[in-house]
Amino acid sequence: MGDVMHAVISRPEMRDAVLNFGTVKIPLADYETTGLCCVCVGPRGCGKTNAGQVMVEQLSQQGWCSLIIDPEGEMELMYGQAVQSPGELRERLLARDKPIVVVRAAGADEFVPYGEVILEVADLVRKPLLVMVDEGQLFSGPQLRADSLGEAARILQDFAERGRKRAIDFFVTALRHTGSVSRSLFDSANLTLIGAQRDSRTWSSLAPQFKSVGLSFGDLSSLGAAEFFCTSTRGVEKVRMPMAAALAKVAPKAKPAKRVLPATFSQWDRAMRDMPRQRLAALTDPVVDLLGQIAGVPPAKMDAGRAALLDELASR
Ligand SMILES: Nc1ncnc2c1ncn2[C@@H]1O[C@H](COP(=O)(O)OP(=O)(O)OP(=O)(O)O)[C@@H](O)[C@H]1O
Ligand SMILES: [Mg+2]
Repeated sequence: MGDVMHAVISRPEMRDAVLNFGTVKIPLADYETTGLCCVCVGPRGCGKTNAGQVMVEQLSQQGWCSLIIDPEGEMELMYGQAVQSPGELRERLLARDKPIVVVRAAGADEFVPYGEVILEVADLVRKPLLVMVDEGQLFSGPQLRADSLGEAARILQDFAERGRKRAIDFFVTALRHTGSVSRSLFDSANLTLIGAQRDSRTWSSLAPQFKSVGLSFGDLSSLGAAEFFCTSTRGVEKVRMPMAAALAKVAPKAKPAKRVLPATFSQWDRAMRDMPRQRLAALTDPVVDLLGQIAGVPPAKMDAGRAALLDELASR
């Protein structure tokens, strides 16, 4: 009987779905009978939240309904207002009328009633659902506990283990590989993203996974922002995550550096300090005048520059 059940449970939506992690594309056909359980670990600012957003956006475009459990209140700006109550979450999940739903939960207390709704609806509606839990250490801990943190951790573990049967896929971030979220989440993970590790003490817990493919602590510690070692059914690959579309919209665009010509004596003085004497000596009056005209430097600034040039030459 168990074998029959095993054989019939599959996730047809996985068959043609793909995750695009920049340089690496992960076909989800490999996950058809298991579902996805992704754990993303790395220090503050390494790009964990963005990685989750990338997954949320890509799966929502391929038929999933995605949920973001947002403890920091940074998601509403990008994906619209959070649901106001567990009841509203139930409605959204039953209607599947919003591809990306934000749930605000600052900690385990607030999360538990939402988590219960997610499990309840997943039992009723077996349609692809991605649950992204950001800052997993707020909802799970290394030790089993009897309080709301323990209850939240049990729900997270349920997400991690139920994928195959309930069509829940799961993405969780953690600050560290040890002493952060429950170890059982790592045991269930079938897709891991490991970001820069700066603390060599974490290496001992990661070493078995990485040494076997020839990677050292140095390889992990030199990862840059948005870079991860990704362990999937394909093996271990280095990925550079693209920027999530919603983040790209709100991220301030880097301004191209504007070239400014020196204007005052001290600015000219600084500009010329590192120039070789030969070059400075070539700046005869007619050359300076010509360059000044081409660059459109006003006479007062030309005078400041000329004075600084004479001063510089005299001091060498
Ligand atoms: N692929 C990317 N391309 C460009 N910028 C990125 C990318 N991923 C992340 N960033 C930038 O890096 C910063 C940190 O990213 P993110 O918030 O995802 O990190 P985090 O690991 O979740 O950090 P924290 O632990 O503080 O929540 C963000 O401001 C984001 O704009
Ligand atoms: Mg984050």
